[in-house]
Amino acid sequence: MIDLRSDTVTQPTEAMRRAMAAAEVGDDVYGEDPTVNRLEELAAERFGKEAALLVASGTMGNLVALLSHCGRGNEAIVGARTHISHYEQGGMAALGGIHQHPVADLPFGRPEISDIEQAINSDDDHLARTTLVCLETTHNEAGGRVLPLAYLEEVARLAAKNHLRVHIDGARVFNAAVALNVPVSMIAHHADSVMFCLSKGLACPVGSLLVGSRDFIGQARRNRKLVGGGMRQAGVLAAAGLVALNEMVDRLVDDHANARRLAEGLADMDGVEVDPGVVETNIFYITITKPGVDAEGLAAQLSDQGVRISTSNFPRVRLVLHYEVGRAEVDEALRAFQLALA
Ligand SMILES: Cc1ncc(COP(=O)(O)O)c(C=O)c1O
Repeated sequence: MIDLRSDTVTQPTEAMRRAMAAAEVGDDVYGEDPTVNRLEELAAERFGKEAALLVASGTMGNLVALLSHCGRGNEAIVGARTHISHYEQGGMAALGGIHQHPVADLPFGRPEISDIEQAINSDDDHLARTTLVCLETTHNEAGGRVLPLAYLEEVARLAAKNHLRVHIDGARVFNAAVALNVPVSMIAHHADSVMFCLSKGLACPVGSLLVGSRDFIGQARRNRKLVGGGMRQAGVLAAAGLVALNEMVDRLVDDHANARRLAEGLADMDGVEVDPGVVETNIFYITITKPGVDAEGLAAQLSDQGVRISTSNFPRVRLVLHYEVGRAEVDEALRAFQLALA
């Protein structure tokens, strides 16, 4: 199957499986897992931060970050269509008593600086205290769009002026760094904390990391335990993470090229709307415009040709490239779409 639903479907590579089997482990809640410690040190170094923390998932990483930056009743400014705002069950409110202040962030995935500024509450007894700005890069709902460094710098400047912190949901921040052709530390430089996922385009079976200052990560370690995320011989997972950071980052450029190739091929077909010009990374959206084509029918026809898509937002369909879909598979997928839309 050519699975275009998500980069989370990626299976661990052979090198990951070997590293996991051979991993040296210990009890990570005691800080005694050498492989976890190595991964956390490497992540901190790559992001130019003092410390890092391995967590079970991106959702847990974002939640732990929010719990660590904000107290109960504090307010976090978030893009209205970010994963944190929209797809994490309102965890910050449910578990942390943190109020979210959504600001418009589509179509580019970046809220206007003036909107962020307006969302900052003044020091007034009626108002929740604003403490945090959350950004997302690459921005999933915006179709894998990358936040430019100049934009991050502007947000950081505004946040500093108002004594706010900045958290980046960087589930796919390495895709952003590769697209910008900069080290990931240049993105992280503009944030107090960054969460990134090992289990998406980097192909690990499980895991995300949170990076930030030593104090912040100390607090995050406590909050990870609070939400039941203290893992024991987690080196088995961290071993795959080390392979990911060392072997799976540079190749993301191929996923971006394949995404553009797929988008360009689809743009030539009747019944599909897509602008290949906006494809920056490994995710993009198409709109099916062919009359008479419905979600189930399209998914079934493509599935018969060996292609899987997700149709939950039909006629808008998200397509995601990853290391299991190479150039040949892209061409096969294009043939499948051609037949399905004929
Ligand atoms: C932008 C973004 N942030 C966070 C997450 C959450 O990651 P996880 O599924 O590991 O909880 C996702 C997952 O798809 C995501 O796309």
